[in-house]
Amino acid sequence: MVRNSKMYGVLCAVILPLFLLPHTDAAAVISIDLGSEWMKIGIVSPGVPMEIVLNKESKRKTPAVVAFRDGVRTFGEDAVSVGVRFPKNSYKYLLDLLGKSYDHPLVQAYKERYPYYEIVKSKRGTPEFIHDEKTRFSPEELVAQLLAKAKEFAEISHGQQISECVITVPGYFNQAERRALKESATLAGLNVLQLINDYTAIAINYGIFRRKEINETAWQALFFDMGAASTKAALVEYKRIGFDRTLGGHEMTLRLREHLIKAWEANGGSDVRASPRAMEKLLREAERLKVVLSANTEHYAQIESLLDDKDFKQLVTRAEFEELCSDLWARVAGVVERAVKAAGVGEARLIVAGGGARAPAVLQALRAAGYEPARSINADEAATMGAVYRAASLATGYKVAALNVRDAVLLPIQVIFSRNVDGTDKLIKRTLFGPMNPYPQKKVITFNKHTDDFSFNVNYAELDHIPPKELEYIAVSNLTHVSLSGVSAALTKHTGENIEHKGIKAHFNLDDSGILNLVNVEFVAEKIVSEEEDEDSTLSKIGSTISKLFSSDSDTPEKLDKPEEKQEDKPQDAEKSNATKANETTTEKQNATETEKAKPKVVMLKEPIKTNEEILTLLPLSPEQFNESKDKIKALNTIDKKRIERETALNNLEAFVVDAQMKIDMEEYAECGTSEQIEELKKICGETSEWLYEDGYEAATELFEEKLAVLKEKANPIFYKHWEHRERPEAVAAIRNMINSSKEFLKMAKNFTKESNPERDIFTSVEIEVLEKKIAETETWLNKTLKEQKALKKNEEIKLTVDSIREKMAHLDREMKYLLNKMKIWRPKTPIKKATNNKTEEVVTDAKPEKKESKKDSPVEESKKDSTADTKVNDSEKDSAADTTEPPLQLGDGNNEHSEL
Ligand SMILES: *[C@@H]1O[C@H](CO)[C@@H](O)[C@H](O)[C@H]1NC(C)=O
Ligand SMILES: *[C@@H]1O[C@H](CO)[C@@H](O)[C@H](O)[C@H]1NC(C)=O
Ligand SMILES: *[C@@H]1O[C@H](CO)[C@@H](O)[C@H](O)[C@H]1NC(C)=O
Ligand SMILES: *[C@@H]1O[C@H](CO)[C@@H](O)[C@H](O)[C@H]1NC(C)=O
Ligand SMILES: *[C@@H]1O[C@H](CO)[C@@H](O)[C@H](O)[C@H]1NC(C)=O
Ligand SMILES: *[C@@H]1O[C@H](CO)[C@@H](O)[C@H](O)[C@H]1NC(C)=O
Ligand SMILES: *[C@@H]1O[C@H](CO)[C@@H](O)[C@H](O)[C@H]1NC(C)=O
Ligand SMILES: *[C@@H]1O[C@H](CO)[C@@H](O)[C@H](O)[C@H]1NC(C)=O
Repeated sequence: MVRNSKMYGVLCAVILPLFLLPHTDAAAVISIDLGSEWMKIGIVSPGVPMEIVLNKESKRKTPAVVAFRDGVRTFGEDAVSVGVRFPKNSYKYLLDLLGKSYDHPLVQAYKERYPYYEIVKSKRGTPEFIHDEKTRFSPEELVAQLLAKAKEFAEISHGQQISECVITVPGYFNQAERRALKESATLAGLNVLQLINDYTAIAINYGIFRRKEINETAWQALFFDMGAASTKAALVEYKRIGFDRTLGGHEMTLRLREHLIKAWEANGGSDVRASPRAMEKLLREAERLKVVLSANTEHYAQIESLLDDKDFKQLVTRAEFEELCSDLWARVAGVVERAVKAAGVGEARLIVAGGGARAPAVLQALRAAGYEPARSINADEAATMGAVYRAASLATGYKVAALNVRDAVLLPIQVIFSRNVDGTDKLIKRTLFGPMNPYPQKKVITFNKHTDDFSFNVNYAELDHIPPKELEYIAVSNLTHVSLSGVSAALTKHTGENIEHKGIKAHFNLDDSGILNLVNVEFVAEKIVSEEEDEDSTLSKIGSTISKLFSSDSDTPEKLDKPEEKQEDKPQDAEKSNATKANETTTEKQNATETEKAKPKVVMLKEPIKTNEEILTLLPLSPEQFNESKDKIKALNTIDKKRIERETALNNLEAFVVDAQMKIDMEEYAECGTSEQIEELKKICGETSEWLYEDGYEAATELFEEKLAVLKEKANPIFYKHWEHRERPEAVAAIRNMINSSKEFLKMAKNFTKESNPERDIFTSVEIEVLEKKIAETETWLNKTLKEQKALKKNEEIKLTVDSIREKMAHLDREMKYLLNKMKIWRPKTPIKKATNNKTEEVVTDAKPEKKESKKDSPVEESKKDSTADTKVNDSEKDSAADTTEPPLQLGDGNNEHSEL
């Protein structure tokens, strides 16, 4: 709390940035690369390059694990440690459960892999962890806590609140999974600018560093990303993606664990599967083994007292490991080939990402498939950095070079409805978003034939390109069931002469995050009107204004690029004639402007149709469920906050006691108090210290704070005196320095008065007198008080305080500034008289300093302004430093101006 004495020399260079610092700038935004094992955070803030956020341990990535033990919540490495001893209390691989129903094969696989968790089916049909009798956790709640922690890391490292983010999402995530991730982020208090497909983020990162190579000649890069849980291959240009949801580094680990279990059992070990702790140890050892075997051909797996105090040791060779995973290597090639085949691309650079791809066998499999893998990106952080780049381009206030990125639809979506044809209901399918359709994009489907209420389904379309196993993971093929009501009323309302029905239009939007939304449904008709009639129909004008708004409601250039796409009408039922098809459903460009301009007399009539959208996949959280989860997380946060407050109060008290005890043992501090004061302080310190190590450890926050306040009350007067004595010499030196400079200035100034220099009469005699008096007064005061102070003992009340010196300096400084400023703006009056011939020139020079002249008129005001500005600086410094104010010290600055003249 002692103020840095170097502050005395501070000039404008340090103070100014406080003023220049823009306060209204763009807020920082973050990216979160949430994987099933790790979580990485990127940040961008104004004027700072994009960077990775370090966690509490100053690491660049954090295990995506949250644990609860004895009322303490931990994250990352701490949570992993808890998990070693109490596997059930530590939650991990959460991304694998997000947005899935309890019956989902991946949820069932999770239960088998980690049998120590008690996972049940919730009311919503989702998996739910039973933590204890009172507490259950949904995957959303746990993921939300991880995301909130990521936010907190960024806030701590950045010192600013953060609310906006881009989160990576596995590209194969379906609607329900994406929605669940977004819900988790909302629970975490984050506003998601976009869920970005992980391979897209990697591709952006690759692209920004190869901007020069991107030209008219297209080239492809094939990104092969093997993470912990899954493997993806993406072709940039986004033609098509190959993926394998369960092919990943973790699968290899699990197989190694299985191998170790069998080895243990073969050596007569007891049932290790029944012990969660032993299973967890085996998993960790298998993970380590996998990494080591990437670089070595053999290695010993070793676990001390694995079970029943028996140690475990087993040699595993790389050959064995590769044999264990032989079917996986075949799948590696499959992923790549699916991506390449579908895209119809012959040649592409292969870029490898993801920790899982470290295994030599994976690289070998890629080579066998004809690809020479290049590790030209930072495999670990590419997605994080790409996503934060994206975040900057989506957030307001950042200028980033446009990187035109469009993603491709992986899971095509279609609309299915029935229509009565010749008395029989026929099922009709229309593709809404075909495979590899670019998005974000809006689409419209027009129903021409329906005159009464009807309904349609939005389903995933035929997923022939997805392997059957993956299809199983998508689980549900129906997305929503939409019922329309009020159709016939809308039609009747807009019926009449010159009115042509244009059908019922359903507007869909596949947003940035790959989430499908039904925007609205409306009945549209066109009316041909005369000019006068048009004038009156304000209502329809409003209608077309609204439709205009819709048609241009994109906010990024990327979206504007191709905001709408005319859907090709490719009906599945071939027996129909082309003409009928055209009438059946058409999708069209939304371009109200076009319609208006082309046919100025056509007015669009629009009537909203009431819709009821029933979600057939996993239901989103209801408002009640959401609030319940929010409250649960809030309660956990409050517990954390209270715990941290208590720890801080305890630490503060402990630190103060230790510091005070050390100081009063030192002569320089002890002499600043009376012997009674020192004895009393010693006694209190001793008592507090004893109390801390006995009952104190259990005490409440308030008690720590009370004790600290009592201690401070006794100690601070002593410490304050010590501070004064220590700081005084430097303060005195500073004011002497100032007095000397002022004297120098005074000497010079005396040469610029009417009396001494009529040509350059800058200063009045009164001004000179005032300064002279001020200098003398200051010096006299200093000499007198300093003498008095020297006669005092160190524990007596301070006569010459550092504060009083600062105050005197401030006064003198204000006087000096005024005179210096006067000197700076002074202009000779004489040339005006002489300038008869060169009038124009003089007028120009005279006119220029007009602003300055106005200053000249009110120099007092000017100097007042200065001093208030200075006070501001002091205020803001006061917050961060001690309880004393800093006088403005502009001497150096003034001297510069002085020498210029
Ligand atoms: C595009 O870039 C590639 C590689 O940088 C270069 O070989 C090619 O000539 C460029 N093409 C054009 C049209 O600039
Ligand atoms: C799924 O959609 C199809 C086609 O519309 C429909 O036949 C089927 O009944 C729907 N299934 C459910 C469960 O809604
Ligand atoms: C439908 O139109 C296509 C091209 O537009 C044409 O090749 C085909 O013969 C037409 N079929 C019928 C049944 O009219
Ligand atoms: C298609 O609609 C047009 C007018 O919109 C109509 O003239 C034509 O007869 C319709 N064709 C069929 C096959 O319904
Ligand atoms: C909309 O119509 C205007 C005017 O006809 C045209 O310039 C513009 O390109 C159209 N927009 C789209 C997206 O087709
Ligand atoms: C003041 O002016 C006199 C005579 O012009 C000169 O000798 C002296 O050095 C000047 N003093 C200062 C401080 O400029
Ligand atoms: C103040 O003290 C300084 C240094 O001791 C001395 O040089 C100066 O003449 C004194 N001034 C007055 C006005 O007493
Ligand atoms: C007036 O201006 C002209 C050109 O701008 C210059 O040659 C001349 O010397 C000036 N006269 C005086 C008295 O400054």
